[in-house]
Amino acid sequence: MELLDQIKNRARKLQNRIVLAEGTELRTLKAAEIVLKEKLAKIILLGNPQIIAELTRKEGIDISGAEIIDPLTDDKRQHYAEIMVEIRKSKGLTIEEALKSLNNPLVFGPIMIKAGDADGEIAGAINATGDVLRPALQYVKTLPGVSVVSGVFIMILKDKTIGDNGILIFADCAVMPDPDEKQLAEIAITTAKTAKTIANIEPRIAMLSFSTKGSAKHALVDKMVNATRIAHEMAPELLIDGEMQLDAALNEEVGQLKSPGSLVAGKANVLVFPGLEAANIGYKLVQRLAGAEAIGPILQGMAAPINDLSRGCSVSDIVNMAAITATQAG
Ligand code: ACO
Repeated sequence: MELLDQIKNRARKLQNRIVLAEGTELRTLKAAEIVLKEKLAKIILLGNPQIIAELTRKEGIDISGAEIIDPLTDDKRQHYAEIMVEIRKSKGLTIEEALKSLNNPLVFGPIMIKAGDADGEIAGAINATGDVLRPALQYVKTLPGVSVVSGVFIMILKDKTIGDNGILIFADCAVMPDPDEKQLAEIAITTAKTAKTIANIEPRIAMLSFSTKGSAKHALVDKMVNATRIAHEMAPELLIDGEMQLDAALNEEVGQLKSPGSLVAGKANVLVFPGLEAANIGYKLVQRLAGAEAIGPILQGMAAPINDLSRGCSVSDIVNMAAITATQAG
């Protein structure tokens, strides 16, 4: 069964409550209809109910079964504002400021999750990544023991000899512009968990560089060597190796030539890039030039699943992300 079908089946069993924060956006409404029809999750749409009613009537979209909440008038606003003040009291947030922030659905969604009124959220069809992520990072925060939220793409390649039957996971393609050694180690460990729980694969993690096992000398190489060491110390049970070049990670012959005896070289299915530039450009290269399907970004490390869409997303991208988010909510 295709990976996305497996994810959808898991989501169906869980029936989690997913907030679609951009509830007056047309693709989002069309996606909500499909999610409800396919019973992938319970849907909460944020936005003005009249606008939503007009749009759905005009477009013939059936969202009966969705809960619609207007962040401007909802009667839980005061309760939510108190939760916000409690979380941000060290930053001096006042009730008045919190109530004003709640007018923004991108703030309202994460607070619903924090209050236990929803299990996950998706936004980003009409908002920039930073605007979706900031309130999530500020209020939902990270899982216990995790300090870094990062984002992966599951790449499904046409060439099934690569990775795990054509599946590779790339990290971090979405969040941390310039991670340090410790953060890279954490990203590797969090990605291993995503590989198991979402992609259903046993991770073999390559820490990528422009050098394999000391073939080049540079501070950037040292960074990946140290990140690999820290990851080993933090999670000795995981198969992690590096620093290594991409060809050594993916090609068996090159891998054994450049890194003899490595259990990862030539067989990697998780690629941890040294920074956001390389990872973000890298996944788009594979998507555009190799025709791979790119599923993501799937955000990981957050205390509850909140995922960011691309502004160019399609209706089916939103449906798939709703299923992934529902699955992450467990
Ligand atoms: N993990 C955990 N917490 C974080 C992280 C992180 N990766 N980054 C920031 N935070 C926390 C901060 O500690 C801070 O917490 P606090 O307010 O409680 O002290 C809060 O989040 C806000 O952090 P700032 O640094 O003030 O926020 P900033 O404006 O820098 O935003 C953001 C953080 C949005 C993640 C930023 O790093 C960013 O824009 N990253 C790049 C996103 C991007 O453009 N990705 C590429 C596009 S996506 C794609 O193509 C698939």
